[in-house]
Amino acid sequence: MEASEASIAKAAGWLAAGELVGMPTETVYGLACDALNPTAAAAVFASKGRPSFDPLIVHVASAEDAWRLVGQPHGEPSWARLVDQLSEAFWPGALTMVLPKPAAVPGIVTAGLETVGVRVPLHPVARRLMEALGEQPVVAGRGLPACVAAPSANRFGEVSPSCAEHVQVACAMVLDGGACVTGVESTVVRPMDEGTVSVLRLGGVSVEALGEVVGEAKVRVVGGTHDDEAASQGLASPGTTLKHYAPRTAMRLMGDRAALLAAIKNATGRCGAIGVALHGIEANAIEDLSPTGDLTEAAANLFAAMHRLDEADLDVILAEAVPELGLGRAINDRLRRASR
Ligand code: TXA
Ligand code: MG
Repeated sequence: MEASEASIAKAAGWLAAGELVGMPTETVYGLACDALNPTAAAAVFASKGRPSFDPLIVHVASAEDAWRLVGQPHGEPSWARLVDQLSEAFWPGALTMVLPKPAAVPGIVTAGLETVGVRVPLHPVARRLMEALGEQPVVAGRGLPACVAAPSANRFGEVSPSCAEHVQVACAMVLDGGACVTGVESTVVRPMDEGTVSVLRLGGVSVEALGEVVGEAKVRVVGGTHDDEAASQGLASPGTTLKHYAPRTAMRLMGDRAALLAAIKNATGRCGAIGVALHGIEANAIEDLSPTGDLTEAAANLFAAMHRLDEADLDVILAEAVPELGLGRAINDRLRRASR
């Protein structure tokens, strides 16, 4: 349903009643519920087919609301200073910060962890929805900010939705807020006591951008690199690594243009190609994520392109890795997981 004042008010009513709503954000569409309602959170896990050990991200309207939710720490620990620096630079936006879990957040939301992932989204419809939820009597009576838990609105392991039509999970309604401008999920970081920032998931805020704010030496990428190392050494065994973001069609990731061309030449059956600057490539279906090689543009187009290739009746999708710079790291991470 097109997002309007009336449909947003209706969606807020559903959330307050413990129902689920498809919510646009600037990264991907989320499957939203009232984050402080454990029954609603359980319905999110059920609707997505998500394993209960994988925690949900809690969305709030502002950095002040994030602190109201988790509580200001005593003293001025290094991690809290990092939260202030990072929230000033990247909120609202595609950054999720892993913070100490307050008692008010149900254990099911954090999958039993002592921490909670918190994000302030930028999309005006998400922001208006949180505001409208805060006005609902059950929520207003809590004395806490409106909190919306929302994982990406895909079935577990499938491609994330970057437009309303791609939201295929059970929910009361989907608010259509147009195509997502960032196109990959948020970067998940944990500000640490020793003053460093651990990157747990690559995403819409690049590692370089984090480094500009807190200092390059303080950023440690822990998610995404172990997998690469293992894969390059042949240690990643199917079944022990998490296949994710995957189309139904078989997908293979090629390291460079020569490998892509060779794979297309040797392909039996119908083959598709995905990458950037794919001028002159011939295949049964081609998704050039950015003809000029702009990696921000490529990220915005990634999931819709994967959906289209999956609908193109192909035997194999051949992906070419993009430069490992800026949002290119997040794109390669998604392509790699989709290719398992
Ligand atoms: O951009 C996004 O982050 C989107 C939109 C809807 O906000 N949401 C999203 O949620 O991608 P999801 O559930 O698909 O991915 C959340 C990621 C998971 O990898 C989860 O393990 C991690 O965040 N996460 C959440 N809470 C965490 C915590 N307390 N500690 C470590 N990782 C956490
Ligand atoms: Mg997801």
